[in-house]
Amino acid sequence: MTSTSHNRVLSGMRPTGRLHLGHYHGVLKNWVELQNEYECYFFVADWHALTTHYEDPQVISDSVIDMVVDWLAAGVSPANARLFVQSDVPAHAELHLLLSMITPLGWLERVPSYKDQQEKLRERDLATYGFLGYPLLQSADILVYKAGQVPVGEDQVAHVELTREVARRFNHLYGREPDFEARAESAMKKMGKKNARLYRELRRRYQEQGDAEALEVGRALLESQANLALGDRERLYGYLEGGGRIILPEPQALLTPASKMPGLDGQKMSKSYHNTIALRDDPRDIEQKLRTMPTDPARVRRNDPGDPDKCPVFQLHQVYSDDKRRQWVREGCTSASIGCLDCKQPIIDAVLNELAPIQERAREYEEDPQQVRNILREGAEAAREVAEETMDEVRSAIGLNY
Ligand code: TRP
Ligand code: SF4
Repeated sequence: MTSTSHNRVLSGMRPTGRLHLGHYHGVLKNWVELQNEYECYFFVADWHALTTHYEDPQVISDSVIDMVVDWLAAGVSPANARLFVQSDVPAHAELHLLLSMITPLGWLERVPSYKDQQEKLRERDLATYGFLGYPLLQSADILVYKAGQVPVGEDQVAHVELTREVARRFNHLYGREPDFEARAESAMKKMGKKNARLYRELRRRYQEQGDAEALEVGRALLESQANLALGDRERLYGYLEGGGRIILPEPQALLTPASKMPGLDGQKMSKSYHNTIALRDDPRDIEQKLRTMPTDPARVRRNDPGDPDKCPVFQLHQVYSDDKRRQWVREGCTSASIGCLDCKQPIIDAVLNELAPIQERAREYEEDPQQVRNILREGAEAAREVAEETMDEVRSAIGLNY
């Protein structure tokens, strides 16, 4: 296991109920791809949900299993990714506490979501300690696995940015050893003459000329050294960049393109807009929702021509149709040669087709929730093992090992 873990991906989702097509197109399809390429950790952020829903925690407990059923139904696989619930891994909380000691209040107060969410969720009292700490809890989620990549939407990028700053501060405070340089030099020798020479050269190129490629190559070199002890590897990562040991590596945001999935009214699909198609909606309800969804208001009668650019149905054609069919819609709509139900039928078919295998898999798990609990238990065991390893290093770097 390497200390930068470029290859490790972590992401979380708050348990807020059943998932819909917006989640599927915006997040889950992406997870399903990532799980084939990276070492993935996907978790249910129940403590995060508690920061906003502490007055009605029932919503959270009602949603956890249901949400994971939707993940599994969408193709997220326990064979390829570790799936678990945040509160089953207490190390998230311990690291959050320790990071809270070194995080200036101002850093949290100026995270944009802090004020935004307080304004948006006016019906809830979010003037709490826990809510202010939300992004720092997220930092702990990420750092406790030393995740290199964090797939998030635009709204979460600031949280990953904060995580980078906190990690840097942690390493700065606790990665300094009085004899750091001497230890790094002796660690270097353990790589063998040839690699040590290469490392020194790359380090010089990075530090003297700011050569970013040299830094990348240097990191890759360290990553490939199978017989370096963890502490030595951390020293050499740090020495390469010029600082102290790197105990908590800085993660990168893996920006998920904003979901283009429109809701039934043309706004972004979201539960709060009541415009969703849930992954497990009954096919008859889905058909009904689509048949009754609004169209271009100018098409009052069948022979009034319409404008697809003013119609939410056409936005669904952007997701589900090819150019040829979109052309068919455009011509048929503007000449009133097709009716809106004709226009909607291929969308109805496409959505039902897309959801059929998902719903079938969901049924298997619905009938056997114990199977879902087992997956989460095993995921948590694996996660705890990795997280505890980090915590050992964190505790000893601070000196909490008496
Ligand atoms: N805050 C994220 C959201 O609201 C969920 C989350 C919690 C998360 N911890 C995380 C996402 C760690 C990525 C990494 O969507
Ligand atoms: Fe919308 Fe299609 Fe009706 Fe035109 S024909 S208004 S694009 S539903």
